[in-house]
Amino acid sequence: MNLPAPARLRLGVNIDHVATIRNARGGDHPDPVRAAEIVASVGGDGITAHLREDRRHIRDADLKRISEATALPLNLEMAATEEMVQIALAHRPHAACIVPEKREERTTEGGLDAAGLHNQLQPVVSRLTDAGIRVSLFIAPEERQIEAALRLGAPVVELHTGEYAHATGEQVAVELKRVADMAALAAKSGIEPHAGHGLTYENVQPVAAIPQLAELNIGHYLIGEAVFVGLEAAVRRMRELMDAAR
Ligand code: PXP
Repeated sequence: MNLPAPARLRLGVNIDHVATIRNARGGDHPDPVRAAEIVASVGGDGITAHLREDRRHIRDADLKRISEATALPLNLEMAATEEMVQIALAHRPHAACIVPEKREERTTEGGLDAAGLHNQLQPVVSRLTDAGIRVSLFIAPEERQIEAALRLGAPVVELHTGEYAHATGEQVAVELKRVADMAALAAKSGIEPHAGHGLTYENVQPVAAIPQLAELNIGHYLIGEAVFVGLEAAVRRMRELMDAAR
């Protein structure tokens, strides 16, 4: 089944790093819930939050508060562990994006090995899907990972754009082509492609121009920019750049 090109590219804003700043002082300011409300007020399409095993930014109580504060769909990023499955089943977010997670990493460094972890992922994908949660797999833009997502029955893949974002010189076009080719392959296979990681004002447009992509998830850069111009202005500017690229 070939998915038609989506009319509009959605912007999901990852608000984890508002919680990172909050947690630096152990209090309740700045509140990621307020960030979610601002994202909703400026036309963001979704809130993305990663509940990590070590709770370094988003915490369990934040999920409920975020869901209650805005009508925007919540995309819960989570490791494929029993603990996280239980939390997802209790909270019923709109979507769950399965990510690889290493305790010592600074951020999600690579894609999920959907191909190598098939047997571990299958029950996780099934249980979340049965609960009405839209499952996405955060994978490297590689054919074998798309094929694995297809075997697992995941309706969505999020293509990891970190290699593209970190590339320099001629490698930029090579990495961009990998993302574009795998977005096309996913859509051709009936899987909705999303993308994210490391996107900025400077590098977002070539990715936003990939016609099959339905959603971008952007966090660190937007929260960093918000320090200087405010979250509202940062989200608006990203939205303008994305729209201009289509
Ligand atoms: N999508 C996924 C699945 C992620 O894990 C992350 C980072 O947590 C992002 C998007 C956002 O990446 P960044 O913070 O670099 O914009």
